[in-house]
Amino acid sequence: MTIQPQLIEQTGAAIESLGTRVTEYFYDHLFRHYPELRPLFPAEMTEQKLRLFQSLLIITSQARNPERLAPYLQNLGIRHIRYGARPEHYSLIGRSLLATLRHFLGSQWTREMAESWIEAYNLAATLCVHAAFEAMQPARFVSLTLEDAKPIVESP
Ligand code: HEM
Repeated sequence: MTIQPQLIEQTGAAIESLGTRVTEYFYDHLFRHYPELRPLFPAEMTEQKLRLFQSLLIITSQARNPERLAPYLQNLGIRHIRYGARPEHYSLIGRSLLATLRHFLGSQWTREMAESWIEAYNLAATLCVHAAFEAMQPARFVSLTLEDAKPIVESP
């Protein structure tokens, strides 16, 4: 399996004009199949549908620029710590994403395209999860010392 960036770009071109219908379908699929994820998201999803749609356009348009995409995905992964996203959730999100792409691409959803998306998503999710893990490393905590308590009154 290899990522064919032109197929990822092709997806972006195919969904661009559809707007948030795409992410509407995605969240319907996600919450129907994995209702346990619903409480993580806000009650009002209008803004979220737009943000995810824009994110998909960024990712698909940068498919040939992994060096630009990597920092974007790493920051996204770190922001997802506070959204309550856990590593095991990424597979669920990925399955709903594949179902959404299959739905909208219709006859363009070929084996090569599916393989490219699987590979690209696995890579993207790995970057997110690793960046979040790295951000939460216990070793990033630096112990306090007396320096942090100054100025202090020295006992006579
Ligand atoms: C590579 C996969 C993913 C992508 C591209 C993605 C994309 C986004 C984007 C663009 C936002 C808007 C806020 C921001 O930019 O920080 C967002 C928010 C959010 N995402 Fe993800 N996400 C992914 C995976 C996940 C996973 C695995 C979960 C876990 C269930 C998740 C849950 C959420 C939640 C709860 C919010 C915030 C809603 C809020 O409180 O405003 N996402 N995501």
